[in-house]
Amino acid sequence: MTVLVEHFTSDSRIEEKKMKDERDDELLWDGGLVVPKSKEADGFDAPDINFLGHSFRDYENGASERQKGVEEFYRMQHIHQTYDFVKEMRKEYGKLNKMDMSIWECCELLNNVVDDSDPDLDEPQIQHLLQTAEAIRRDYPNEDWLHLTALIHDLGKVLLLPEFGGLPQWAVVGDTFPVGCAFDSANIHHKYFKENPDNSNPKYNTKNGVYSEGCGLDNVLMSWGHDDYMYLVAKENGTTLPHAGLFIIRYHSFYPLHKAGTYTHLMSEEDKEDLKWLHVFNKYDLYSKSKVQVDVEQVKPYYISLINKYFPAKLKW
Ligand SMILES: [Fe+2]
Ligand SMILES: [Fe+2]
Repeated sequence: MTVLVEHFTSDSRIEEKKMKDERDDELLWDGGLVVPKSKEADGFDAPDINFLGHSFRDYENGASERQKGVEEFYRMQHIHQTYDFVKEMRKEYGKLNKMDMSIWECCELLNNVVDDSDPDLDEPQIQHLLQTAEAIRRDYPNEDWLHLTALIHDLGKVLLLPEFGGLPQWAVVGDTFPVGCAFDSANIHHKYFKENPDNSNPKYNTKNGVYSEGCGLDNVLMSWGHDDYMYLVAKENGTTLPHAGLFIIRYHSFYPLHKAGTYTHLMSEEDKEDLKWLHVFNKYDLYSKSKVQVDVEQVKPYYISLINKYFPAKLKW
């Protein structure tokens, strides 16, 4: 789900609805990326705030405004996500001094950030979390840790909120990648890494960079965003989720790994086991517009019981 901090004005909810309906059959991957779209062919100046959609993954073809928005997002991300930047972010957010709240309170906090200029998303954020969780629960009824992992996987998007520093989108959403070693060409819009200072730093621009073969992804710094933040929050607050749950949280936007199969030289044996669960999870981290709404009140007791099982009552964020 997308948390929107910028607002693109709309003067026609009817047109928005039409655009939404036209996309009803699309399956959208949740990269959480928000991109503005300019004029439609009919001249309607529509807001197009969307996920990094499945169809948007065809990055090199066409030159729609939407794609340009995506491209500009990645240009910014690739320039600014350096080894030092990630270290700074981890140091700052590792203090966990922004807020004290429970997991469910965070779901509600994220839920409050509903963007009514979003043509795709007229439903609350919690629906994406619960739809993902409930779909997994249906197919993997015995893996309660996976249900909870799905519920919390995007909570790190609170980084967009002013209380959490109001980080720019390039520091919160989008595909992630390791820093401190060469940027693999499987990374989307790889060309923009040319402008990243690490790219010309011999310390960071070799295949292994500051890491060693098979060191394990937990020892690798990832570009900063909602994945790594939520991983830190869960780990530092002493969650009892299995390692695979933490792995899913930290790497669910790491498309170069779970889609393209790159960076495997940095993985440990345990990572390779956990990757199987990430592949399972990623099939569900998408949603179809035709999906039925989850009745929050009905499923809430189940998720509260999972939260109580795997997390303390209050967490530091
Ligand atoms: Fe998601
Ligand atoms: Fe996500």
